[in-house]
Amino acid sequence: MLLSLISQVDEALAVVFHALGLPPHLAHAEPSARPALGDVQCHAALAAARVLGRPPRAIADDIAAALRGDARFAAVEVAGPGFVNIRFADTFLGTAAAATLADPRLGVADEGQGALVVLDFGGPNVAKPLHVGHLRSLVLGESLRRILGALGWRTHGDAHLGDWGLQMGMLSAAIRLRDPAMPYFTGAGPYPTNAPVTLDELERLYPEAAAACRDDPARMAGARADTAALQAGDPGLLALWHALRQLSVDAQVRDFALLGVHFDALDGESDVRDAIAPLVDDLRARGIARASEGALVVDVALPGDTSEVPPLLLVKADGAALYATTDLVTLQARARMPGLAKVVYVVDQRQALHFEQVFRAARRAGIADGVDLVHAGFGTVNGKDGKPFKTRQGGVARLRDLLDEAVERAAERVEASARVAVGERPALARSIGMAAVKFADLSGDRVSGYVFDAERLVAFEGKTGPYLQYAVVRLRSLLARAAGMAVGPPHATLPAERELVLACLGFGAKVSEAGHLLQPGVLAAWAHDIAQRFSTFYDRCEVLRETDETCRSRRLGICTLTLAVLERAVALLGIDVPARM
Ligand code: ARG
Repeated sequence: MLLSLISQVDEALAVVFHALGLPPHLAHAEPSARPALGDVQCHAALAAARVLGRPPRAIADDIAAALRGDARFAAVEVAGPGFVNIRFADTFLGTAAAATLADPRLGVADEGQGALVVLDFGGPNVAKPLHVGHLRSLVLGESLRRILGALGWRTHGDAHLGDWGLQMGMLSAAIRLRDPAMPYFTGAGPYPTNAPVTLDELERLYPEAAAACRDDPARMAGARADTAALQAGDPGLLALWHALRQLSVDAQVRDFALLGVHFDALDGESDVRDAIAPLVDDLRARGIARASEGALVVDVALPGDTSEVPPLLLVKADGAALYATTDLVTLQARARMPGLAKVVYVVDQRQALHFEQVFRAARRAGIADGVDLVHAGFGTVNGKDGKPFKTRQGGVARLRDLLDEAVERAAERVEASARVAVGERPALARSIGMAAVKFADLSGDRVSGYVFDAERLVAFEGKTGPYLQYAVVRLRSLLARAAGMAVGPPHATLPAERELVLACLGFGAKVSEAGHLLQPGVLAAWAHDIAQRFSTFYDRCEVLRETDETCRSRRLGICTLTLAVLERAVALLGIDVPARM
């Protein structure tokens, strides 16, 4: 419910509580769980009764009696042990609805006030294809970026490419083995700028090289030596690294575009490489890093810990920097961005300990002081067997496999319904398939995993992305058919109208809640609820065929409000809506 509506009730309650000598901090109302009883409810009489030693019913009666004179409320009733149920006057609700519709922000508060939030999401690794985990990060991260942006934050989306680790050494060592005479390895520049392999070869090469390193210590030693040489600045290896990175990033950028994901920066671990040694030296000099078995570590355990938080490994015995090191150095660089207030890492929940270590080490080192550091973790995408989703061949599922499967299922549906022209079907199937995957990714608590069941996700009914798309398409077409008819303010009087309008007015509060909790699922559930309420309203109330013109224009106003908030919500989820479906 629109925050301002609730806060107006709270203000009325505050006046009444003051007059009645009730504890002022209890003067609050909340949306009613049972609309038949009222629009909002105040439970304060129960708590006040404990403080004052009076029966709650008597207190509730006093509150209700005092509120009854207020023209904003059509009914104030006491129920149960002492609940005060309040129903808004239709005119009051209508005014609030008209105000929301006229507000360009649709009731979403400017909470960020221009403060900067960095969203670290996507996190693809160079030379490896995007997999389902990256998909979740991309979808959740993009939605969070949009939600925080709507709440008035200045957002900076950063893909934080994994481009400086052992996989790069594994690749160059494998390429060297195939052709040691390549200029990259002979130290004789100039080096070709094009990659010596195609994208397909590269994507095959990495798993092969990784497997070989796992099985053969000599291969692993070669990969480590190349990684160390690369990190030490070997010009040939740097040139090869650069070419492979470019090839891989170009492909990933195409995937981002397909998913409608926007990044402000495609920075990677490698971008902070020159700052690693200075930070390490500084931490050592200040006694924050200590030597341990040839390596350098930062102790991050705290007295109250209930489970062990091991030291953060800063530099390995062979001198190589690690994942945590680049995260610390990257944070140090981000802290220099003007106005930075928050960094949100949208990364697999299984990395929770890693982020705890990084955040604690940052605190100890005084890196990013005063900046709110949050790990917004997420669970795994599972197959119908409940185990992490695999391809039909049993391999690690790539993002493209998953999207292809959803798009294929969507295409079957589109064929079956045959409502759109043949030429439009492939694009429609893609849009529906994407929406299906995104909605599934965003629904529910992000920390829990979900079952990827393409068949179910592309359904037009139930809690699905296509159901939301369909509601928007239906509303758009309805309003298009109303061209030339009068559209009045969204005044609701019947229960199906009021319930829809009241829920629409909750948009701002839901966006805030989703932003605070970093849970797009809150908004996804709300949008689904709106779509359902609209469907009920449309079943019960005539709109275009309504003969009473005043009533029709009110209802068209309600449809306009519904479309405005639903369209905005769907956009914040990062879901596109096709023209027809
Ligand atoms: N590249 C990492 C992975 O694939 C994710 C990076 C997440 N972001 C970060 N700042 N550590 O697991």
